[in-house]
Amino acid sequence: DKGGHKHFMAKEIAEQPMVIGEAVRHYLSADGNSVELPEDFDFAGIDRLTMVACGTAFYACLTAKYWFEQLAQLPVEVDIASEFRYREPPIAPRTVALFVSQSGETADTLAALRYCDGKADKILSVVNVPESSIARESDLALPILAGVEVGVASTKAFTCQLTVLLMLALKAAEQRGTLTADEIADKLSALRAVPATLNTALEQEGAIAAAARKLSEASDVLFLGRGLMYPLALEGALKLKEISYIHAEAYASGELKHGPIALIDKTMPVVVMAPYDALYGKTVSNMQEVLARGGKVVLITDAAGAAETEDSAWQTIVMPEIDPVLTPVLYAVPAQLLAYHTAVAKGTDVDQPRNLAKSVTVE
Ligand code: M6R
Repeated sequence: DKGGHKHFMAKEIAEQPMVIGEAVRHYLSADGNSVELPEDFDFAGIDRLTMVACGTAFYACLTAKYWFEQLAQLPVEVDIASEFRYREPPIAPRTVALFVSQSGETADTLAALRYCDGKADKILSVVNVPESSIARESDLALPILAGVEVGVASTKAFTCQLTVLLMLALKAAEQRGTLTADEIADKLSALRAVPATLNTALEQEGAIAAAARKLSEASDVLFLGRGLMYPLALEGALKLKEISYIHAEAYASGELKHGPIALIDKTMPVVVMAPYDALYGKTVSNMQEVLARGGKVVLITDAAGAAETEDSAWQTIVMPEIDPVLTPVLYAVPAQLLAYHTAVAKGTDVDQPRNLAKSVTVE
């Protein structure tokens, strides 16, 4: 049942405020001031976290690396499951392995988990299907509570993965003493406000669809982002290529002048994801480099960011304000809608894109 939407993907994008709200409530203590896990887990006694996944779940891990490192001062390694499993890396003592998978059945992720069995101190997983193989073979499986995701392009599972991973990073920060109880309570109150903020973001659908109609004419699109926006740029590019079949790639903004700038001309739109944060000035100077070469920029920012760049962008999409730590959850929405409306404009099969399966259980 598409619940009145044209596609499952549209329904699943719209459901995000509700399912994220549920995930937040699930992991919140009764007083709302700390994170509660279904079972005790000790982050203070470990030295390293190794995170492994595929596709969109891998981008959720890349995002979480920033959170675990910055909030909990815990070194994190992130790897693609199909690389990790065949490289057979050494697993240092006091390492926890964390696997992220919507389906819990992705063959490479499951094989990577089995490789870590007996080598890592503990095996954790963040999954949408609690009875899946990955959940069953973990010491502790944390459900993301996104509900069934039908669209092949992952949307609500991604933002629920982010939500649970951020709460896990806050738990690690509490146990490792790297954030005060007040700082944690403050982040949790920002998390509780996410559903309302996402509803405001969803109201920008018209402006996003207008940008998408422009993108639908292109054969290549570049996504740029810095810091927490870099993994999201990767996710935005994956979403676009998956369902619209437009070639898209993403770079960390700082890498632009190390190669990809050679591609810039008026035929290749550049999507820049940049909330007005400490890194904004740097990303804007990358944007100026694109504009100076005739490139067309779709800028996704907030009101403060939009005010600073006035109307130099081809199109600006304005997001509401949010705690900087939560920007990946919020900016996922325009990234998803941009891909969705580009695919709709091109008339492709949004929910069942060619050559793709919802769950990749073959190697
Ligand atoms: O079920 P999983 O989360 O393990 O799946 C991983 C990837 O196959 C999946 O995220 C894929 O990249 C999606 N189609 C992305 O939209």
